[in-house]
Amino acid sequence: MLAWYDRHRRRLPWRALPGETADPYRVWLSEIMLQQTTVAAVIPYYERFVTRFPSVDALAAAPLETVLAAWAGLGYYARARNLHACARAVAAVGGFPRDLDGLRALPGIGAYTAAAVGAIAFGVPTVPVDGNVERVAARLFAIDDSLPSAKPAIAGAAARLGADPDARARPSDFAQALFDLGATICTPATPACALCPWRDVCAGRLAGIAAELPRKGPKKQRPVRYGVHFWLTDEAGQVLLRRRPASGLFGGMTELPGTPWRGESWTAADAVRHAPMPAEWRPAGQVRHGLTHFELAIDLLAARVPRIEAEGFLRPATELADEALPSVMRKCVRMAVGGN
Ligand code: ADE
Repeated sequence: MLAWYDRHRRRLPWRALPGETADPYRVWLSEIMLQQTTVAAVIPYYERFVTRFPSVDALAAAPLETVLAAWAGLGYYARARNLHACARAVAAVGGFPRDLDGLRALPGIGAYTAAAVGAIAFGVPTVPVDGNVERVAARLFAIDDSLPSAKPAIAGAAARLGADPDARARPSDFAQALFDLGATICTPATPACALCPWRDVCAGRLAGIAAELPRKGPKKQRPVRYGVHFWLTDEAGQVLLRRRPASGLFGGMTELPGTPWRGESWTAADAVRHAPMPAEWRPAGQVRHGLTHFELAIDLLAARVPRIEAEGFLRPATELADEALPSVMRKCVRMAVGGN
């Protein structure tokens, strides 16, 4: 496995080159960004982020709004708030703790992230179990039970892999080798078993069931919530925005003014009662967006008035790139501006 990694390791911007030591700040930042998001999607955000905040001290010193704006589009904004809180905690003590318990105690760091940062940045002999590692382990040991009940067996299998003397000698490379194997060879739908360094010992492959593992339990249906948001512009080409309350979903982020999100759809008459000011509202499209616990169905209403007099703040409608707009709001803006 490690010989395979030495040949095929991916070059990723947060990764140290062979022989270099990893920068814990960069490792931690990449791990937080990579939760629920793909490597390809993370790279441009990561590059911009480290240019803007080159160290944990720089991140700690930045105002939360700046951090949220740099994060906007990556989703799961509680992560950005925790990221900032974590940077402050780390800066206050002069650096990242080097052990799992110390890492675990920081804001936004759970068992997985502690293990990933511990192994990659500090060489702690442990195996971080993300989706990739789960898949590799389930296949290698032919763990046939379905998720989530297979999790403890998979975690045990991953720990057994990590207990191998070669793995213990290079915990950082071993963890990243598992990530890379899962991302490039042991892929979800059609694993490239012929290219796998473990092809001869993989119980899943030998049983002919590798591609089916790990088995998944029945998928839960996400409920739909409905909302109406208002795209209100003035003659100077400015649009009305609001800041969401600091706590709760999308806390502290920017949005178009709108109705609450609820289980029942809105009639136009009902929705307009929540409009920021009286205007001639016309339908401007619909946006669908999946979140963790529900799916949002948003109707957009647009109007143009000579002067906006309403609660919120104004920004040029064509210059919203630096606003802390969550992805769903970016979709709304695109729809309002371009009609798609
Ligand atoms: N997925 C999670 N962490 C990763 C990492 N450090 N490199 C590549 N993929 C990952």
